[in-house]
Amino acid sequence: MRLATIDLLRAAYGRHALGAFNVSSMEQVHGLFRGAERAQAPVIVQFTRVMRNYAHPRMLAAMLEAAEGIYPGVVFACHHDHGDEASCAEAIASGDYNSVMIDASHHPFEENVAITRRVVEQAHARGIAVEAELGLLQGIEDEMSVDAKEAILTDPAQAEEFVSRTGCDSLAVAIGTSHGAYKFSGKQGLHFDRLAEIQKRLPGYPLVLHGGSAVPVREVERINAAGGKLDASASGVAESELPRAIASGITKVNIGTDGRLIWTRVHREFFQKSPKEFDFMQPGKTYMEEFAAFVAAKCATLGAAGQAVASAILADVEPGFQPGGKSQGHHE
Ligand code: 13P
Repeated sequence: MRLATIDLLRAAYGRHALGAFNVSSMEQVHGLFRGAERAQAPVIVQFTRVMRNYAHPRMLAAMLEAAEGIYPGVVFACHHDHGDEASCAEAIASGDYNSVMIDASHHPFEENVAITRRVVEQAHARGIAVEAELGLLQGIEDEMSVDAKEAILTDPAQAEEFVSRTGCDSLAVAIGTSHGAYKFSGKQGLHFDRLAEIQKRLPGYPLVLHGGSAVPVREVERINAAGGKLDASASGVAESELPRAIASGITKVNIGTDGRLIWTRVHREFFQKSPKEFDFMQPGKTYMEEFAAFVAAKCATLGAAGQAVASAILADVEPGFQPGGKSQGHHE
């Protein structure tokens, strides 16, 4: 069952986080829906601009429509991740998305406000929610100066001003994570002090954690043992940090890298063990199962397992509720 992203965020806030999984292939879509079905967890399906270019927007929309029919019990929303103004406009016009992310954080503050505001106007006219970003999603190193760290992390006062001026429905905050397999070095982890300050300024408002992959050491070691050459000192977001992040307002956790690491490990191990094979379906089946198991386990870690029905009921009771206090149309 497809629901509005904003309703899923509202149902989740302070209770659990939604796993927002970046997928771009048929195997990943099957794995994601199977995992969500097993965990009975609401999920967000995310397609980036790059994925839309890779698979074609219509192919992605068709796969999702098929998945909805094959897995009727799964509660989900469809989100356009890391859009620019043009791709957000396309996604909004297509009617295939429940929310879009406008990523204008690399622009100066005023320009980020102006661009985000324009996307919000277009999206809200169609009942679609908007996630925006403030701060830089870039790894923080131990040896960085305090000023350099400050320049990266989201400024709490700016976050409050940004949300009120743009009307965005959720905000991706920079609290130390970056995208990809190498997020943290030394003693770095999530900057909870900063997150607490942001939550104080924006109580009840859904915050988004990008770069949410855990990058398990064992996964990287297996990839390298099967011929890979990934940086073995790579590290991601420790799962033990997630409950505290959720209590501090993180309501959506973006995960892409972990799914790609599983893909790499499954395929490398398969072709290493069976060098005479050239059948994509054998490792494909293994990948679907392993990705499903990963999604189910991650949803449990995020506290979302067993919450699908509750999310659907809450969304039905008060459709269109916005944590920020404004009401928004229910997008189906
Ligand atoms: P990871 O690189 O940690 O998987 O993050 C994905 C993400 O934030 C997509 O927006």
